[in-house]
Amino acid sequence: MPLAHGGLPSILPADVMAELKETATKLCAPGKGFLAADESAGPWLRAGHAEAAKIPDVIENRAAYRSLCFSTPGLSEHISGVILHWETLFQDDGLGKAMVDIIQGNGMIAGIKVDKGYNKKGMWGTLVGPLGHPEVATVGLDDLQDRCKKAYEKGARFAKWRNVLQLDPAKGLPSDLAIADTVHTLARYASICQSEGLVPIVEPEIVPNGNHDIFYCAQMTEKVLAAQFKALADHHIYLEGAVLKPNMVKNGLAGPKAYPETIATLTCQTLLRTVPPAVPGIFFLSGETALNEDNEEEATINLSTMNKLFSGKLPWHLSFSYGKALQKTCVVTWLGKDENKEAAQKALLNRAKANSQAVFGKYQKGSCASVGTDGNVMQAAGPY
Ligand code: 13P
Repeated sequence: MPLAHGGLPSILPADVMAELKETATKLCAPGKGFLAADESAGPWLRAGHAEAAKIPDVIENRAAYRSLCFSTPGLSEHISGVILHWETLFQDDGLGKAMVDIIQGNGMIAGIKVDKGYNKKGMWGTLVGPLGHPEVATVGLDDLQDRCKKAYEKGARFAKWRNVLQLDPAKGLPSDLAIADTVHTLARYASICQSEGLVPIVEPEIVPNGNHDIFYCAQMTEKVLAAQFKALADHHIYLEGAVLKPNMVKNGLAGPKAYPETIATLTCQTLLRTVPPAVPGIFFLSGETALNEDNEEEATINLSTMNKLFSGKLPWHLSFSYGKALQKTCVVTWLGKDENKEAAQKALLNRAKANSQAVFGKYQKGSCASVGTDGNVMQAAGPY
């Protein structure tokens, strides 16, 4: 038995474990993070911008925009992995080149979102949270083994699955039931991924909707992550071949505002208390922000503040897996027009570089141009 098994049952062959570890190590390369490009609908609907929201959400536009992103010259200096939607994994660009080949040719690793979202009718008997529906269960386990195999064959080497939890201190949300369902589902998913050679991104996302303060978010994030790593242990997950995608610890969108130093301190403290050092990397989602906030700039500043304040004190790579916060200025620069392609690529590269600087704790506030808050509208929410 190879030493890497340690106390794990020998369910994963040694070569699969070695490959998982190698992929995870590449994903966690210094200064690098993920581009989350796995939105179910056109990314411009998630970007939360009035003009961008008018771009027709048709398959040709999704292919044009995404191939623009993936072929951005120099992107792999800052991005190790790109998370794809199932549509994109099997899609070609306008010239007939496979998206996966564009990603690999540009020096990045392709990943695949494998959850199938959730039904907002939710889990019967649970209370309605700030998203306006009961607590939800993410679906997609039934045929996951088969889909993971197909994704690997097509070139994916890592995967993503997101569960959603809502906060409401008055109602006691998230309920113990919702937490138990979330951590079990994510652990089942992670074990299936690893059996097919895919590094799982484990994403138990606590959404920021609601009027709670940051301390309630800290308390519940700590509770959820503690439960999550117990479940991963129970499911024999090889932690060296898995990564975590958590929410940052923040105040609710309608709660008392907390600033970057507080967000950074409480987020890192929560992670240090709950995430084993065997996990190679933690990649934050950016999440929804208030209408008066610049979501790209905030996400970069928060990450940079963490890596600055906790420099040398964190056992894992602490990085980004942003969707909205990497793409907003890029989308608004593009606006569906081919002639804007190069400028849009430059915007994406600039923000990716800013986040790379944030992984080193060295981002200078305001040094990366963004569209700011002009044109902000509600970001499309719900299943990703
Ligand atoms: P954001 O758009 O909030 O960064 O989320 C990325 C993601 O992949 C969520 O699952």
